[in-house]
Amino acid sequence: METLCITGGQPLHGTLAVQGSKNAVLPLLAAAAAVPGRSVLLGCPSIRDLRVSCALLEGLGLSCRAAGDTLFLDAAAPPRTDPDPALAGQLRSSVLLLGALLGRCGQAEIPLPGGCVLGARPLDLHLKGLEALGVEVRREDCLLRCRGRPRAGTVRLPYPSVGATENLMLAALGASGPVRICGAAREPEIRDLAAFLNACGARVTGAGSACVRITPAPLHGAVHRVLPDRMEAATWLCAVAAAGGTLRLTGLCPAQLEPVLRTLEQAGCELTREPAALSLRAGALQAPEPVVTGPYPAFPTDAQAPMMAALLRAQGRTLFSETVFEDRFRHVPALRAMGAQIELSGRRAVVHGTAKLHGAEMAATDLRGAAAMVCAALGAEGESRITQAWHLDRGYADFAARLRALGAEVRVEA
Ligand code: EPZ
Repeated sequence: METLCITGGQPLHGTLAVQGSKNAVLPLLAAAAAVPGRSVLLGCPSIRDLRVSCALLEGLGLSCRAAGDTLFLDAAAPPRTDPDPALAGQLRSSVLLLGALLGRCGQAEIPLPGGCVLGARPLDLHLKGLEALGVEVRREDCLLRCRGRPRAGTVRLPYPSVGATENLMLAALGASGPVRICGAAREPEIRDLAAFLNACGARVTGAGSACVRITPAPLHGAVHRVLPDRMEAATWLCAVAAAGGTLRLTGLCPAQLEPVLRTLEQAGCELTREPAALSLRAGALQAPEPVVTGPYPAFPTDAQAPMMAALLRAQGRTLFSETVFEDRFRHVPALRAMGAQIELSGRRAVVHGTAKLHGAEMAATDLRGAAAMVCAALGAEGESRITQAWHLDRGYADFAARLRALGAEVRVEA
């Protein structure tokens, strides 16, 4: 999808089943490469990052076959350890093959990853963690050459990096003894990865807490259903909050979205929580308490941009503080082009609610920034054109079709 044209200004109404989580399925694919055997992943999202990840695994000699939202993976044969740089450079999660291949093969030559440009996005926590387990890490131009079977031991992460936690969990599968990760990320996607690894015969405890312990054991393939995508759910909630109307989401875990739900309720949305569903009724919005992003269970950084878009017309001033990434306000110029009143100062933004927004032409900057532009366009009078809309395809399945299912007026230009 190159250009998305949205004519906003009317309320949305509809029901959507939440897709499988992008940020859960990508680590699961890396994990499947670490496990000698056949695995089946159920409820996979039809997104570009998943297709690129499957191509990466096939380049290593594994097989990936999709049938609907089910992925059949065969990693029985030992994989190659040198992923294709052209593919690896398209997404951040390709770096997780480092831990997976080290754990399985004791070596890996990994190209530097790509992914959304949200700041420097260094890999120091990944690499220092692996070195703490005795892995030899050499960086040559755009390659990470790593060798050595990880030792038993403890890694202390100074920041709860999601990717570093996942990489170390995967490397620990092949360690010479138990590995403890202290200061680990606590995101639900970490728990989902641990559930898959335990189904494969590993012994992972503490996932979802700040201390994860992995005890190596013989591994085999497994069947696993991918966690629902809490960020996709947050995006649709913000879209309807921005446009007005009603939304019912099914097949999700509302408890994993509490900070987002609290902000929407403070802003004046009515929410009804069920064990695996959520209903929202949008109304006239007023500024909520400050939105401060942070590692789970704080307000998720991936929902910051869509929430900002939802609150552009909220009466009063909303403060945003982005503590996770140093450059995650790249969507602000596009929102200003629609008439939004936003002050920026470093990692802080202040949104002054404005009565009306108008359509504009803008270029998507990253996955969640693009989603924010869509949310704002849905609440703006007239037509908006979002170029570089392929960013959305990376993490949202059938995006235009799902917008239409909510009654949005949408046109896609190739
Ligand atoms: C994961 O990225 C997600 N991506 C991101 O989602 C998400 O925003 C992020 O976690 C935080 O929740 C996937 O799961 C594929 P981090 P990741 O390592 O692992 C710094 C989306 O939109 N850091 O927790 O890269 C880093 O620069 C994407 O779906 C280091 O300094 O995030 C950032 O400031 C965007 N050194 C902070 O930590 C390191 O070695 C959080 O990064 C690693 C990270």
